[in-house]
Amino acid sequence: AQNRVYIKNGQVVNHDRTFKADVYIEDGIIKFVGPASDITVPGGVRTIDASGKLILPGGIDPHTHFQLKFGGQVSVDDFYKGTRAAVAGGTTTIIDFVLPNKGESLLDAYDTWRSWADGKVCCDYAFHVGLTWWSKSVSNEMKTLCEEHGINSFKMFMAYKGLYQLNDTEMLEALERIKELNGVAMVHAENGDIIARNVNKLLKAGVTGPEGHELSRQEEVEAEAVNRACVLAHQADCPLYVVHVMSKSAGVEVARARQRYRGRGGIFGETLAAALGTYDGHNHCCWHDAAMHILSPPLRPDPTTPEGIMRLLANDDLQTTGSDNCTFNCSQKESGLNDFSKIPNGVNGVEDRMSIVWEKGVHAGLLDPCRFVAITSTNAAKIFNLYPQKGRIAAGSDADVLIWDPNQTRKISKETHHHACDFNIFEGMVCHGVPEMVLVRGRVCVENGQVRVAEGFGRFLETPVNPPFVYDALNGKTNGEEEEVAVNGNMKKLNINEQLEIE
Ligand code: URP
Ligand code: ZN
Ligand code: ZN
Ligand code: ZN
Repeated sequence: AQNRVYIKNGQVVNHDRTFKADVYIEDGIIKFVGPASDITVPGGVRTIDASGKLILPGGIDPHTHFQLKFGGQVSVDDFYKGTRAAVAGGTTTIIDFVLPNKGESLLDAYDTWRSWADGKVCCDYAFHVGLTWWSKSVSNEMKTLCEEHGINSFKMFMAYKGLYQLNDTEMLEALERIKELNGVAMVHAENGDIIARNVNKLLKAGVTGPEGHELSRQEEVEAEAVNRACVLAHQADCPLYVVHVMSKSAGVEVARARQRYRGRGGIFGETLAAALGTYDGHNHCCWHDAAMHILSPPLRPDPTTPEGIMRLLANDDLQTTGSDNCTFNCSQKESGLNDFSKIPNGVNGVEDRMSIVWEKGVHAGLLDPCRFVAITSTNAAKIFNLYPQKGRIAAGSDADVLIWDPNQTRKISKETHHHACDFNIFEGMVCHGVPEMVLVRGRVCVENGQVRVAEGFGRFLETPVNPPFVYDALNGKTNGEEEEVAVNGNMKKLNINEQLEIE
């Protein structure tokens, strides 16, 4: 066996419990988790002392847009730079979006996206597919994507009128189809009709600068669409994952729907590092600074937003954190110099998400470390059916492992980040929680502040349909029912749905 690593004296943190244990890794897989007395480590194995450190499952970012064509521009973090930045910050799996052009075959778009990513990715990755238009052929291709390409999640847009937006009838048809295929529906929830009218009114009134962006799509425009999406999903009896919840009002709508429909399951909400780490309440120093902060839904002027959203995450009203990493350089943002609606949307976050959530969540006293693991890794793995291959420190799981120093700090800056873009929306923020070492399938990629990734090392992960966690939640079974099972001689608490390879 090659590629053997023994991590001793660390504190393992999984989403359901934390305990002192040694971890032994061989050929990219975790082979043992338990007390030193229970394992005989072969000679010549690299040994890492993790005293005083936490051992966490690598982060899963369920929302990135690497090298995305958007508004005539291509986002500058490609699948190499983007996954390299991810790994640098402790994220070892990303899920990106295949977004077909209007009228384009979903299967063709899937092939194109694979050709962009394979050979470039430094960590494992999966895809969601966008239902950017709707037709009988789209519906047919969804089945092929599920059955032959391991796609289980489809994103619908309630905004971007004239581009990607579906109407309610189309959404209902799509939701019924996703339900039929046992997949997971995802939704970009903003009322695109309201936004289109507001944009026109603002531009006519002479409001052409970046400040027009949030004014055209305020909190209630997001919250209305979240509620409508939940109602539509309920009508179709389809599980729904609301992407990038950016306001307290929208988060509360997710929470209300979870309570009313599903006994707190079947509907899931994601928020972004951007929503937790910054807000739109400051005076921007220049046009570029303001433009660089533009994404949809937008950062909110309400300064209580970041903490409010963190409290929703802590309370399981929201379940996951992504980045929506979609970075454009200053020069690219300039295409909207005379019209804010032409500024390409998107911000960074794939590198800094883990540290931002630690700083604003655990360090601020709002999250415990187990909940941190749940919202940065395990919940995404469960919802998109990557669990327990990903999202858990356990024998049989992939060795995507972080040695996390909760006491060390790191200052975020465009001068030191690993992104391709010339800006960082978290510039100057100091975060506790640093990934001292990052292992991607057993390969040490970060140590001593150095990032040493291997281009093309990442593999495409098929995400089978019928994620058991999601469908149990839909059928009213308790989420995360657990039982004790023996794994390599150790008693472990495992979710009833886990299919762990036990040797
Ligand atoms: O502003 C954003 N979020 N850009 C990426 C596209 C999307 O809607 O996720
Ligand atoms: Zn979106
Ligand atoms: Zn600013
Ligand atoms: Zn997005």
